Amino acid sequence: MNHSSRPTTRPDTIRARIYRFDPETDQQPRYDTFEVPRRPLMRILDVLDYVHETLAVDIGYRWLCTSKKCGSCAVNVNGSPALACWDEALPEMTIEPLSNLTVIRDLVTSRDDYEKTLASISPQLVRKEPYQSFPEPITARDFAATVHLRECIQCLACQSVCPVAAQPESGFAGPAVLVALSELAQDPRDGADRARIAGETANVFKCVSCYECERVCPSEIPIVSEAIEPLKRLAFRHTDAAGARRARAFLGEVKRQGQVNGAFVALRTKGLDLGAVRLGTRLLRRRKIDPFSLLRSLLGRRRAADAMRHTYESVEDKP
Ligand code: SF4
Ligand code: SF4
Ligand code: FES
Repeated sequence: MNHSSRPTTRPDTIRARIYRFDPETDQQPRYDTFEVPRRPLMRILDVLDYVHETLAVDIGYRWLCTSKKCGSCAVNVNGSPALACWDEALPEMTIEPLSNLTVIRDLVTSRDDYEKTLASISPQLVRKEPYQSFPEPITARDFAATVHLRECIQCLACQSVCPVAAQPESGFAGPAVLVALSELAQDPRDGADRARIAGETANVFKCVSCYECERVCPSEIPIVSEAIEPLKRLAFRHTDAAGARRARAFLGEVKRQGQVNGAFVALRTKGLDLGAVRLGTRLLRRRKIDPFSLLRSLLGRRRAADAMRHTYESVEDKP
């Protein structure tokens, strides 16, 4: 083991700085640095195996399939999620547990919170009708919309970088759970009320569409466009969740005025209460609302809004 911070210069060596923490015995985390002989096509997991077998037998890390199938080996490498069994080892690596997850020991994180949230969305097919026959006749077209979602290996890389899932009080289920939910919601065999589950249980409207989850997904799943947006559309059409009300109010304002007025969206979403009055006053004070446009909004519809409304109406019934 070498605790020096001197950078590696030898091309035949990998320097791995590894996070160490045992919540049962340690007050705070530390980093141990190991020098590992470099081999061609070495993966991060090969480095961890070498450290475990040769330098630090007590190091905690997790793997199962070693072939990008189980998702259990995900760790942070130099600040970004990576699959240890799949991604190439770098000459200089700081290896840490995934962010936003409870550390069990060293690089091993708990999946308990994720599995609890997953259980809350009924993550299995809920059939309205019995099987027509066995094997069940299912066409490729039935699965076309979810074909990428089925590539999810539940590695939780997306969950670890999501800025909203990082705030447990938000009630947001997180991208990994939404991928599972969307797969079911778009399955023609499923009969559960997925709109309600998306809008109320999973709080899908809390997603801010920052695309961080897509950036890190090792399966390159279009999480926002193929999982989250279909769920938002479903909840928008069939629920009265706060996010669906806000989206309807937003759309109503665009159709009516050709532009969005924050005060009217808040009013349409929540009704007139003290909170709405306070928000309106704050927006006015910060010049986020133009008082003249507010007046025009009260007096009638803008002519330009008609064109905007027609544009919306021409696409809004499309899936
Ligand atoms: S796009 Fe949504 S789910 Fe993905 S990281 Fe951003 S907030 Fe989270
Ligand atoms: S969506 Fe991608 S990043 Fe998220 S759990 Fe599935 S495979 Fe991992
Ligand atoms: S060990 Fe299974 S995905 Fe890496």
